[in-house]
Amino acid sequence: MPTVDTLGRPMRDLRISVTDRCNFRCTYCMPFDEYKWIERSEVLSFEEIERLVRLFLSFGIQKVRLTGGEPLVRKDLHRLIARLSAVAGLPDISLTTNGALLAEQADALFAAGLRRINVSIDTLKPERFRALTKRGELDDVLAGVFAARKVGMTPIKLNAVIIRGTNDDEILDLVHFARTNGFEMRFIEYMDVGNANSWSLDKTVTKKEILETVHGRFPVREVGREHGSAPAVDYEFLDGTGEIGIIGSVTEPFCSSCTRIRLTADGKLVTCLFAESGFDLKALVRSGASDDEIRTQVEKIWSVRTDRYSDVRWDLVRSGTYQAGAHKKIEMITLGG
Ligand SMILES: C[S@@+](CC[C@H](N)C(=O)[O-])C[C@H]1O[C@@H](n2cnc3c(N)ncnc32)[C@H](O)[C@@H]1O
Ligand code: SF4
Repeated sequence: MPTVDTLGRPMRDLRISVTDRCNFRCTYCMPFDEYKWIERSEVLSFEEIERLVRLFLSFGIQKVRLTGGEPLVRKDLHRLIARLSAVAGLPDISLTTNGALLAEQADALFAAGLRRINVSIDTLKPERFRALTKRGELDDVLAGVFAARKVGMTPIKLNAVIIRGTNDDEILDLVHFARTNGFEMRFIEYMDVGNANSWSLDKTVTKKEILETVHGRFPVREVGREHGSAPAVDYEFLDGTGEIGIIGSVTEPFCSSCTRIRLTADGKLVTCLFAESGFDLKALVRSGASDDEIRTQVEKIWSVRTDRYSDVRWDLVRSGTYQAGAHKKIEMITLGG
């Protein structure tokens, strides 16, 4: 019997943040220059990550996604990919990256076994890109996605957070760019992650609005969520040129089917993107615990899981009583988006 939480949800997806560092400072994610960084010695080693992935497989994990911070700033990330690719019974490894270092690493990542990749790209305007990321150059990211395509990665999904008054005028340009080049656009509703991104509901362009905009120009029909539990609802173009996905985390929360568990770069186990804290799994690992002891602890944590933050937030937002700052959350860069 798979371990299920208090709402009957199994554990299917493991998201691992491999670093809290990032070479960008996207205004909606990392609005400050400096943060309290995790000490190098506290970051999980590749050996520790591989061991934990093997242990998690026994709970029915089907997908592992590496994220951050920016995963490609972690030295020799391809070596971790190679280790995980060799783990028997792990069907799916993917990576979410800002793409700045992808052009130089695409070959090594592919050779190590990486096939699926998500690259964040919120705008196709170089000046706007600089303003949004504070430290990024659009050309580097474009070079990265084309390098990934050249080495043979597929699918290549392009993530865009749509913020009203910032980049909502580019929804169709982004779709056109993705369709023309064989990529898959994934739009993400702007969320109040972390504690400092000055989120307000009026800045969130809703899934419904995004869909209407796309459908008006490039007609689509709904396909549904991959495996029934993916965050994105997928739509295919009626003309047969691929798909898009839209993640309505704010206005169409999907807590009831959330099968994701997260490991922070310093080895905290977290059961919700909006959690206030996590369980220090690294301490257990480094104390010499056996595989069984670690499994027992993970099972205990998952079996009492009650998280449904986005459902609750949406109820409060609709009743006009939601206060974004009232709930202290772990920063997205620590947690891994
Ligand atoms: C935290 S990033 C980490 C991986 C990598 N650095 C990147 O940018 O793709 C993962 C994803 O979270 C998304 N994200 C960050 N802040 C967000 C916010 N406030 N609302 C919605 N999505 C957000 C990013 O756009 C990105 O697609
Ligand atoms: S969204 Fe990704 S690239 Fe941008 S600041 Fe956050 S972690 Fe860095």
